[in-house]
Amino acid sequence: MTKPLFDKHTNFVVKQENPFNGGPPPKLLNRSHTTPTDLFFVRSHGDVPEVDVNSYRLEINGRVAKVLSLSLDEIKNNFEHVTISATLQCAGNRREELMAVKPILKELKWGVDAISHAVWAGVRLRDVLSAAGVESEADSHLHIEFGGLDTTERLNKRFNFGGSIPLSKGFCSEVILAYEMNGEPLPPVHGFPLRAIVPGYIGARSVKWLDRITIQDEPSQNYFQRHAYRLFASDIDPENVKWEEGVMLGEMNVTSVICSHQENEEVDSGTVTIQGYAIAGGGREITRVDVSCDCGATWIQAELLKDSSWAWTLWKASVELKPGKHQLAVRAMDTAINTQPENISQVWNFKGYMNNAWHRVNIEVK
Ligand code: MTE
Repeated sequence: MTKPLFDKHTNFVVKQENPFNGGPPPKLLNRSHTTPTDLFFVRSHGDVPEVDVNSYRLEINGRVAKVLSLSLDEIKNNFEHVTISATLQCAGNRREELMAVKPILKELKWGVDAISHAVWAGVRLRDVLSAAGVESEADSHLHIEFGGLDTTERLNKRFNFGGSIPLSKGFCSEVILAYEMNGEPLPPVHGFPLRAIVPGYIGARSVKWLDRITIQDEPSQNYFQRHAYRLFASDIDPENVKWEEGVMLGEMNVTSVICSHQENEEVDSGTVTIQGYAIAGGGREITRVDVSCDCGATWIQAELLKDSSWAWTLWKASVELKPGKHQLAVRAMDTAINTQPENISQVWNFKGYMNNAWHRVNIEVK
């Protein structure tokens, strides 16, 4: 087997080479709380840009009192170094299940693998914004647009990837500009030399290869905020879509997934340990994970394992299973008592985002 590109693990599953996209096999996904960098999923819309760190600058402009242009060393030396342990999840995670309900065109077929966890280090975004004279209270109605160095083509135009978050989120201490991942400099494929990390939000707002931050009155007009990463009702399709009517995605929703077993897997009868991950959006926490072995007729509570506020919750449950066919299912609940819808048809949308229906896996016990 040849080693995948970008120093990824030999077991890393490449979904697309150009641009490079892929993720870890589900069974390796929750083997450790922190995903090893060589297994961490990659979601890129364009090619990885080559960045000369000697000429690299981060520009902070727009509605600021003072425009800043910072080298990587200035960012590292002028601001407090902070660390955050945070999970990134793509809004397209679990799109494959939606595709089985009704086709979704021109989108990547993510299984349960568009999610990973890392320890990120860098500087707080709010410290950099304060240096540019942005004020958290006076300017709280504004938006922070992140611009990346990578380019991609949509609607016959080539442009740089970008997206925005409300300024109120940008001033939260968990939002950082990261130059390290799992104790090493950020690898090229994950955004070297600098990226935004916006815990609790869909991965698209954690812009990689960051070279521009603009403070502005409106959310970003970038394709990936204006068209993509919006949620539409199930009767909307590419022919009748009015893009401005879609809900602009920000905070993640509550979801949970079974990683230990795959569809149609055969297992031995007796004690079976079922494992997976769960995650809630915003600053919410997972409070409960329920597991069923009979299509949702009865449930047991899983044991929860979590190490920090912005991290996913890993869970496990041991059950006694007799020979025969069983449908495993999992659903989670967060601190706002949000839970997951039972039926996947309730969450189908033509872009294939935010699938948080009960995750179901059929197994055969021998
Ligand atoms: N930033 C840039 N510049 N270009 C991109 O294509 N993809 C986004 C986000 N940041 C993207 C980006 C999406 S959709 C996700 S889910 C995360 O990066 C994935 O981060 P990762 O590749 O480090 O896992």
